[in-house]
Amino acid sequence: MWHGRFSKDPSARLRAYGESVSFDRRLALHDIAGSKAHAAALRKAGLITTKELKAIHRGLDAIAREIRVGKFKWREELEDVHMNIEAALTKKIGAPGAKVHTARSRNDQVATDLRLWMRDETKALIGSVRVLQKALVALAVRSGDAVMPGYTHLQRAQPVLAAHHLLAYVEMLDRDVGRLADAAKRSDVLPLGSGALAGSTIALDRSLIARQLGFSSVSQNSMDAVSDRDFACEFLSACAITGMHLSRLCEDTILWASSEFGFLKLSDAHTTGSSLMPQKKNPDIAELARGKTGRLYGNLLSLLTTLKGLPLSYNRDLQEDKEPVFDSADTLGASLEILAEMFAAAKWDRKRMGDAAADALLVATDWADYLVRKKLPFREAHEVVGKLVALSVKRGITLREVSLQDLKAASRLFGADALRCLDAKRSLAARTAEGAPSPKRVAARLAFWRKRLAKS
Ligand code: ARG
Repeated sequence: MWHGRFSKDPSARLRAYGESVSFDRRLALHDIAGSKAHAAALRKAGLITTKELKAIHRGLDAIAREIRVGKFKWREELEDVHMNIEAALTKKIGAPGAKVHTARSRNDQVATDLRLWMRDETKALIGSVRVLQKALVALAVRSGDAVMPGYTHLQRAQPVLAAHHLLAYVEMLDRDVGRLADAAKRSDVLPLGSGALAGSTIALDRSLIARQLGFSSVSQNSMDAVSDRDFACEFLSACAITGMHLSRLCEDTILWASSEFGFLKLSDAHTTGSSLMPQKKNPDIAELARGKTGRLYGNLLSLLTTLKGLPLSYNRDLQEDKEPVFDSADTLGASLEILAEMFAAAKWDRKRMGDAAADALLVATDWADYLVRKKLPFREAHEVVGKLVALSVKRGITLREVSLQDLKAASRLFGADALRCLDAKRSLAARTAEGAPSPKRVAARLAFWRKRLAKS
């Protein structure tokens, strides 16, 4: 494509080192859409005839069909997806094909393709996040009114509804949808028309191209447009944060599926055995998803590092943007899908949850609140109950077994009703503030999510 100035072919090593068609062929259909819109603008500018435009569109459509059915012959020596398609078009339709690259550079072309691709990909990923949210809501519904210990420092802290714990992840995933949608919005700007870096002496109607491709606006600085990959960083960042959420969800799941917790049973279809230990049932999906989060972080760091210190405008370094972006989209998409499937088939062990939630220490704070209601300052109440906990530990009894006499000795504000206080269900029912886990609040939030997700 540039042989005019050169007297030697590129070395075989350069070809192999520099080619990107092995991975950027994923942009092919968006590249074709971009070329069709560009050709329409060439027609409007009077640079090609209507007949030529039709030939170009027909040729590109035929190439798209060949690509879809896997018949297109990709050639590494043509370096990238753009030159492969352009060469195939010219081969197919002759002279008009050679006019398509008028007033265009691969620099504005590749930026356009990637933005178009990302717009579609974020839509698909958002769909997959929604499917996982639905699976979590369904699992929350299946937990009914089951109570489990809530943890801080991974130590039993206070009782919560299992549904409340799961809905925490539904909230997180909703913020992820927002971030992915933001990344899509940021990529919704047309770079085409920026040329290699300084536009072209042949000015095309850029808003026509933008309209045809569904972009909401056109870039306002040609040098920025060909070198900007902020949108890709934002996409990778959204993927990394979503991955972080999945890894936390997976960690909880791994704990819940362990014999120590035993709260959740994963289906045989979503666990693996050990080749050595016949008793093992391992939560590999959750472990893999947790592990793959490392890749999602790496991809973000990889692109940020590639971009760091790059002078304006286009530099070939920018070709390194695509593999991390593709990998994050694939990795996150696959994790979301398989986790949704895994949670859809998971079953609660209500007995194990109930046994764990029966631990009276979980509601020790309620005794302090009891004393506070009787006007004891909280700090003092905290100390009184702390001493009662120490007493129960020393005697090897549970808090519920501490006698009324001992209670009264600790604080004369205690009455017989204090003993009824140590009940997880009662404790939960009293947690009525917005965002707190009273069964009423949780049911309302569940209903909210079911309605909201039914629409997506
Ligand atoms: N394959 C290139 C990339 O992905 C396309 C742009 C190449 N431009 C150039 N001047 N060599 O960035």
